[in-house]
Amino acid sequence: MRIEVSNNRGEGTARVVLGVVLAGVVLLASGSVLGHVGSPQLTDDCGSCHVGHGKPGEPMLGKSEEDFCYQCHGSDQERSRMVAEGRLLPSARLMDMRQEFDKQYTHPVERQGMHSPTEVLPTFGGAEVSHAECVDCHNPHQRLEAGKRMDFAVSGYSINGQHMERSLHQYEICLKCHTDKMGAKSSEMSLDRVFAVNVRSQHPVTVPLSGRLLPSMVDKAMTGQRMKCSDCHRSSDRDGPRGPHGSDYEFMLSGNYNRDVYVRESAFAFEFCYSCHDRFSILGNESFPFHREHIEGDPVSGRKGTSCYTCHASHGSPENPNLIKFNLQAVTGEKSGRRVEYLETSQGSGTCVLECHGHNHAPGGY
Ligand code: HEC
Ligand code: HEC
Ligand code: HEC
Ligand code: HEC
Ligand code: HEC
Ligand code: HEC
Ligand code: HEC
Repeated sequence: MRIEVSNNRGEGTARVVLGVVLAGVVLLASGSVLGHVGSPQLTDDCGSCHVGHGKPGEPMLGKSEEDFCYQCHGSDQERSRMVAEGRLLPSARLMDMRQEFDKQYTHPVERQGMHSPTEVLPTFGGAEVSHAECVDCHNPHQRLEAGKRMDFAVSGYSINGQHMERSLHQYEICLKCHTDKMGAKSSEMSLDRVFAVNVRSQHPVTVPLSGRLLPSMVDKAMTGQRMKCSDCHRSSDRDGPRGPHGSDYEFMLSGNYNRDVYVRESAFAFEFCYSCHDRFSILGNESFPFHREHIEGDPVSGRKGTSCYTCHASHGSPENPNLIKFNLQAVTGEKSGRRVEYLETSQGSGTCVLECHGHNHAPGGY
């Protein structure tokens, strides 16, 4: 680990708003990353964290891994203790991160002893140590200096697979663990493939927003920005801390997302997508004229509704425009040629070639 620290308190108090470099805040208030070193809320640049004399191999932290961070980022009680010990100012307003990691779907920070300050990630793809610690994503020695380009001060990978000592975008941190998780770079779901910059249809994490105004957009003012992974993977509490720490919902999503082939439509069933794509616009067929028919089904004939997931990829679709990627558990090849295809004729019209719930679309146009 490279540590860049100094005891010069003055510079460290600079607070740089991320907006420009990250330009990534979609729905959430503009975020800032604040350094520890030089923070006016810590009573001592180093001594607030490093205490005592320590043992060889342990940088005098007192507590291990996440328990160390929870001393200040845990419960009010834990913080009071730090205040009483004179290590933290009483005015510090910090959120309870322990609560996030107590949720059902989390990064597994409680797996002990797997992180090493000198590790080279990724550790997936067969290696037995698959872990995620606070310090894999956060540098405890981060300080921000006025006028310097903002970075995360933790390593990562660029979307082209280049190792980076310091990540400039949030997703680069994620890519150091989440590319070969699914087995190999060739895996069609691998994040570096679906978010590759030449993928035409993707949620704009590695590329800026397309600039075309989608009818369903809840927030119409998003042009030119990028999304962050943590716009989608974050706390299920609306006012909870930012970041992919924990959620009540599968895949650490900000809201519920039912991906079943047959689903009864409701605001809750697709809460996650509807947080950005207006439910009434989608069901009002403002883009795809058969959205409602597919999503709600047809009560008269008794045909059931289906999930967005039956037709849409969540990350990116290298094959098709409009994030179309058919769930092959719901859709099979059409009868004559066994093909599953989507062709966009022009914006707002296209053709599907497939078979779905016994309906042969060979082809079905709109
Ligand atoms: C917010 C708490 C915090 C503050 C403030 C802090 N450190 Fe650390 N320090 C840590 C943690 C956590 C680690 C272990 C990092 C890891 O395991 O990857 C660490 C590790 C270290 C190490 C061992 C490096 C290694 O490779 O393990 C040194 C040396 C160090 N810190 C020096 C300092 C100095 C000098 C300062 C003051 C300028 C300082 N730290 C301020 C939390 C802190
Ligand atoms: C001694 C108390 C203390 C410890 C221990 C501590 N922090 Fe902090 N942390 C703070 C304070 C105080 C701030 C706010 C700094 C400011 O506003 O100037 C902060 C800020 C942060 C932020 C930035 C929050 C934001 O709003 O952007 C992150 C991320 C963070 N800490 C992570 C960690 C991690 C990870 C650890 C464990 C390795 C840790 N902290 C250990 C006191 C602590
Ligand atoms: C140090 C490695 C590491 C880093 C860095 C990392 N993750 Fe993870 N992530 C993991 C591990 C380990 C799991 C748990 C996998 C398991 O239990 O099967 C996980 C799980 C997840 C899951 C849930 C997956 C599922 O199948 O339910 C999501 C979503 C996720 N991470 C998103 C992110 C995002 C977003 C980032 C970047 C901000 C990130 N991760 C950075 C290691 C990492
Ligand atoms: C628009 C919202 C959105 C964005 C942005 C997003 N994800 Fe996801 N992610 C999802 C959804 C929804 C799922 C559930 C599985 C699915 O639908 O394929 C998921 C699944 C995952 C999984 C578990 C399944 C798998 O494919 O491994 C991981 C890990 C993950 N995302 C990481 C990330 C990372 C890292 C980023 C940023 C590079 C990111 N996600 C950006 C919505 C999003
Ligand atoms: C997989 C990566 C990852 C892990 C592991 C992780 N964080 Fe974070 N954390 C993030 C990201 C990314 C953000 C910033 C999200 C944003 O800006 O939208 C964040 C934000 C934060 C914040 C600021 C929250 C706010 O809204 O002010 C704190 C504090 C924090 N993390 C502490 C921790 C602590 C403590 C741990 C371990 C117990 C931890 N994090 C583990 C990725 C991670
Ligand atoms: C955090 C906000 C957010 C969430 C949650 C979200 N989206 Fe999106 N989505 C966007 C943004 C922003 C765009 C605009 C992309 C552009 O124009 O570049 C978009 C674009 C799309 C597009 C059009 C893509 C194209 O290439 O034309 C589809 C389809 C889509 N989203 C489906 C979904 C589905 C399905 C879900 C739920 C699984 C979902 N989105 C969840 C923000 C979100
Ligand atoms: C039967 C397949 C199918 C299902 C199910 C489906 N969509 Fe779509 N969706 C499409 C097609 C096709 C388009 C492209 C329309 C066009 O040509 O512009 C589209 C376009 C979109 C767009 C981009 C245009 C816009 O309206 O802003 C969004 C966002 C979207 N869908 C979200 C959703 C969500 C959310 C769900 C689930 C609640 C869903 N879709 C379910 C087929 C489907």
